[in-house]
Amino acid sequence: MGEIKRIGILTSGGDAPGMNAALRALVRSGLKAGFTMLGIERGYAGLLKGEIRQLNTRSVSEILHAGGTFLLTARSKEFTTPEGLDRAVSIIHEYGIDALVVIGGDGSFRGAVSLAEKGIPVIGIPATIDNDVASTSYAIGFDTALETALDAIDKIRDTSSSHERGSVIEVMGRDAGYIAYAVGLASGAEVTLVPEVPFDLEKDVLDVIRRGRDIGKHHYIVVMAEGCGSAIEMAEKIEEATGIVTRGTVLGYVQRGGRPTAIDRVIASNMGLHAINLLQKGVVNRLVAVRDGRITDVDAFEGVNMKKTIPEVLLTEAMKLF
Ligand code: F6P
Repeated sequence: MGEIKRIGILTSGGDAPGMNAALRALVRSGLKAGFTMLGIERGYAGLLKGEIRQLNTRSVSEILHAGGTFLLTARSKEFTTPEGLDRAVSIIHEYGIDALVVIGGDGSFRGAVSLAEKGIPVIGIPATIDNDVASTSYAIGFDTALETALDAIDKIRDTSSSHERGSVIEVMGRDAGYIAYAVGLASGAEVTLVPEVPFDLEKDVLDVIRRGRDIGKHHYIVVMAEGCGSAIEMAEKIEEATGIVTRGTVLGYVQRGGRPTAIDRVIASNMGLHAINLLQKGVVNRLVAVRDGRITDVDAFEGVNMKKTIPEVLLTEAMKLF
């Protein structure tokens, strides 16, 4: 590997609030370290089209507080093919990019590692509202998504309690239940369902709701991760079995947008700074991570093969609150 002078940066996969803060930190600290900073638009899809431009300190002004990503993002099927990967490598060489920083989730990191296997030096910064990246305990965007979902659930609880109805709320997370677990606990949901822990409709949902009714509860909240199925269908099943009027709400993309919280801005900024510090030392093929409460980095090849899951005990403990 030659000396690193030109750094390409991109955001990939689902956007996450705080991505802009990471980009700002990368660009500003990268320029101060003497690197040329190149922004690649629309993730790997834009890389394949050569949508690359040089960034200066003003390119990242006024973005710190904004959700989304000013570099735009995309999911690219073409990049996952052997031909697409080879094309990406030749474009990286064509633009003289010495190292690539990829901000995104698991899929984006797998893409980065495929490039590393082809000899492209990479650094990954975890960002996904799902918080399911195994190499880190925290991914940029999670805290903001939790605040947004929690605010919506608190509001739904008001109407649910006024009408003495049940509400089933579906939150995002793809195959992971981190958002559901955290907002279930924080909102005082009577039932929380996550894909990592199998559940029995009769015992884990209907019985809990009936017991609540028997002790005088007039409304209830079920928080379910999208990986457990449809909230609308679940609401219908519950209403049919219990006779309690029940509505389903799918929170959807509202969870991905919005101003990043202070926590997301601070972590994202520090992750961007960490990535540039690594590159200054010539350390590459690392995934930036939060581990044991501090920002660090792990080997990219090992990191993408790590597994992460919600321990069942967390849910059983949460049930003690009802
Ligand atoms: O990974 C973030 C996420 O919002 C998941 O929670 C969700 O399953 C998925 O992205 C939706 O993806 P898309 O933007 O392609 O609809």
